[in-house]
Order: sequence, then structure tokens, then C-alpha cells
Amino acid sequence: MTQKQNQKRIETAVIHEGYDTKEMLGSLSTPIFQTSTYTFETAEQGERRFAGEESGYIYSRLGNPTVRVLEERIATLEKGEAGLAFGSGMAAVSAVLIALTKANDHIICSSGLYGCTFGFLTMMREKYNITTDFSEMKSKEELRSLIRPETTVIYVETPINPTMRLIDLQQVAEVAKEYGIPVVVDNTFSSPYLQQPLELGCDIVLHSATKYIGGHGDVIAGLVVGKKSFIDMLSNTTQKDIGGVISPFDAWLLLRGLKTLAVRLDRHCDNARKIVAQLKMHRQVANVYYPEDDDNPDLAIMEGQMRRGGGVISFDVKGNKQQAQQLLNQLGFLKIAVSLGDAETLIEHPATMTHASIPYEVRQQMGITDQLIRLSVGLEAWEDIWSDLEQALDQL
Ligand SMILES: Cc1ncc(COP(=O)(O)O)c(C=O)c1O
Repeated sequence: MTQKQNQKRIETAVIHEGYDTKEMLGSLSTPIFQTSTYTFETAEQGERRFAGEESGYIYSRLGNPTVRVLEERIATLEKGEAGLAFGSGMAAVSAVLIALTKANDHIICSSGLYGCTFGFLTMMREKYNITTDFSEMKSKEELRSLIRPETTVIYVETPINPTMRLIDLQQVAEVAKEYGIPVVVDNTFSSPYLQQPLELGCDIVLHSATKYIGGHGDVIAGLVVGKKSFIDMLSNTTQKDIGGVISPFDAWLLLRGLKTLAVRLDRHCDNARKIVAQLKMHRQVANVYYPEDDDNPDLAIMEGQMRRGGGVISFDVKGNKQQAQQLLNQLGFLKIAVSLGDAETLIEHPATMTHASIPYEVRQQMGITDQLIRLSVGLEAWEDIWSDLEQALDQL
């Protein structure tokens, strides 16, 4: 593929996009503008800025130079027109869904998704009668059959947390276009290095930037990318008036983390593939779920829309909840923790942790069994990761 002169490859863009050292006294690292407000030279200038007649900063809930660099960088990485940063992934998810719906609307959502997003959709139903249908989105017909006049959003997680099933984004986008319904994709598990939903025809991408974008387990943040008109609307409504903004320091942490995104993701993927191969051979492991696994029924979808399989693996241990918890308790240096995408390998039990808020029956339908384990493979030597996992599995 030939790259246009001004279009950097993603390995370069993660380091340079959105920042011009000349504008910041030559500072190589983006300065942290740790300020809540900005001074106006005159009362009239303040009036013009509030009226939108003059560009410039007003107050950090409405915009901040450090945050702006991050927003421009993520927009370029996701191949979107504009980006917006939030104080958490859930602030981003909720701001987008509130912006796209009103009372009595209808959402179609991938069957299987992050527990708090499920919780938010439940709250929207109870408070505003905004109903959600969950779908595996396996065929165009299945998706079309769910669309109603009041459907205003199609919301997709792929790979799905924690089952690692995949949804064909191009297929979903094609159906959505027939009806003029925006498709929102939670791209947390892939990051723009592995998957770029806007290139596949989707409309809005969001992230829990807490995960691979930050990459070091030291920040909670969210990001949204889409058309400029949508991002402007989001910025002036659900972000400005609800206020889930990111701090300048956290934006700086994300900018720093982003610089190594490609390098980290390649290592996460290399390690994950090796751990998958080992897990599949272990007698205490019943099933392994990983997008780039040859036995994965969604492998063709993976090859069509992801660069590589990512750093998260799920697997069922033989037995039930007791064996799953026992496995976690028998680990040595590997850490029991929710979250993913960090340098440290993190392991958790979705049924009692990240997805505990989803009712038992719904969890079963989503494939979240009591013996399912989610493993975020870190950047350590894969042999050390496996050695710890193996000794814990051997004791079951
Ligand atoms: C897929 C996905 N989306 C959204 C979120 C929410 O992000 P945050 O914890 O940054 O609010 C998470 C958190 O685990 C997640 O895994």
C-alpha cells in the first residue's frame, strides 16, 4: 500500500501526530497545561470566545491544549475527523449513548459486552424506556429483523469482552447504512493498531483508553472518534454539561503510552499466541477462545478486519466456579486483577468480577460460564507467564 506523503504509518503517527514542537518552545515532550481556566485580555474577548466568534481556550472542561494533542492524535490513528477525550471509558460510552438516544428509542447491541456498559443500558431502560435487543449479528438478515423505526444506535464490541467472539463490522455497517443508523464500536480490545472500524464503514469508535492506549495500568480514561459534526455536538452537550473530562496529566500519560502502542501490541500478540498453544494442550483446560486461533469459528472475520489477534485470551477450565477461583489463588507472580492491556499479565474471573452485574441467565446466553477465565497477556517473557499458569493449572 502506498502511503500519501502526509499520511504517516501508524507506528510513526502514534509518536508524532497532533503535536508540533515549534508551538511549544521546542519541548520534545508535550507540555502538561495544568490549568483550570484561561485569562482573557479584555471583556470583549471573553464575550467573543463564549459566542464562538473567536477560537481560543476558555476553561479546561471545554478544552485544554494537552488534551487537544491527544484528541488530534487518536482521531488520526482511528482515521476519523475528530476526537474527544473523557475521564473514563464509561464516561465515553455513556456520553455517546446519551447523545444518540432519547426516551423510548431502541438500541441493537452485540450480545456480550462489558458489564458496566450492560449496566448503563439497563439504567437507560429503567429511566427512559430506551430498550436494547442483543444480537450475535451473524447475518444481515438477523440484524435487519431487529431494526425498528425507533432504532437509533447499533452498538458493537468486537472482540467481545470476555468471550472473544467477533462481529463482522463491514457487514453491520452495510446494513446500518441502509437504514441511516449510526454504528458505534467499542475498540478497546484491539486499539487502532489492530483494528480500525471507521475504515470498515462504522461511524463512531470509542475506547476505554485505560487499557492498551495507556498501556501501563496507571490511568483511567476514555476516547471517542467520529465525524467532526458529531464530536462537536458531543463536546458541546454530553461532555460539557455532564462533565466527564480527562485531566491534563492523564492526557499526557496517554500520549506517552501511545508512543509505544505498536511495539507493545506486537509483543502482546506474540506472547498471546504462544500461551494459547500451551493452554490448548493442558488437560485442565476445556476450551480456549482467541481471535487468531486456527480453531476459532470467527477466524475469517478476524482476518478480514484485524491485523492480529490481540493480547486477551479467555478459557474455560474443567470444572466450575470453584476450580476457576482455585486457579487464580494458586498463581505465583501473575496478578489477579480486572483491566487489561498492561505490561503486567492480569487474570480475572468475569462471572464474579467484570461481568457479575449481568444476571446469571443472560451471562449464560452470552457464553460467560462460571469456569471462564480472562487472561490479559502482558509483556513479560512468555515462558515465565506460562510457567506460572501451568503450575497453577497442574494443581487443579
Ligand atoms: C470493552 C470495555 N469497554 C469499556 C470499559 C470501561 O472503561 P473504563 O474502566 O475506562 O471506564 C471497559 C473496562 O473494562 C471495557 O473492557
